[in-house]
Amino acid sequence: MIGKLNHVAIAVADLEKATASYRDTLGAAVTAPMDLPEHGVTTVFIELPNTKIELLQPLGEDSPIARFLEKNPAGGMHHVCYEVEDIEAAKIKLLADGARVLGDIKIGAHNKPVLFLHPKDFCGTLVELEQI
Ligand code: CO
Repeated sequence: MIGKLNHVAIAVADLEKATASYRDTLGAAVTAPMDLPEHGVTTVFIELPNTKIELLQPLGEDSPIARFLEKNPAGGMHHVCYEVEDIEAAKIKLLADGARVLGDIKIGAHNKPVLFLHPKDFCGTLVELEQI
């Protein structure tokens, strides 16, 4: 069902500083910051030849990233995102297999449908699926 690794997301307290580390110290190509109010995050993508890194900073009062940073003040890996061809079919299969799907299919950072899966069902790691 899952295809390519689309990105690995890292939660950060200071997006400007994190972006500068990747751009200046690691020499990576970075995108401009983008606010995603529906997800409670501001994102920057680090573009690597074979995949992307998504830096996530909390946006707004009730950001899930703010709660993550309370537990991990230095920041840390937040989720992995795998590509799927048909997100509706993926959701039906996951639910049939007893996996916990978090919320509904939403439109993600690339203007494509995304779905999140509970970390307890996938080795302690939050999983995002993105329809390509
Ligand atoms: Co993501």
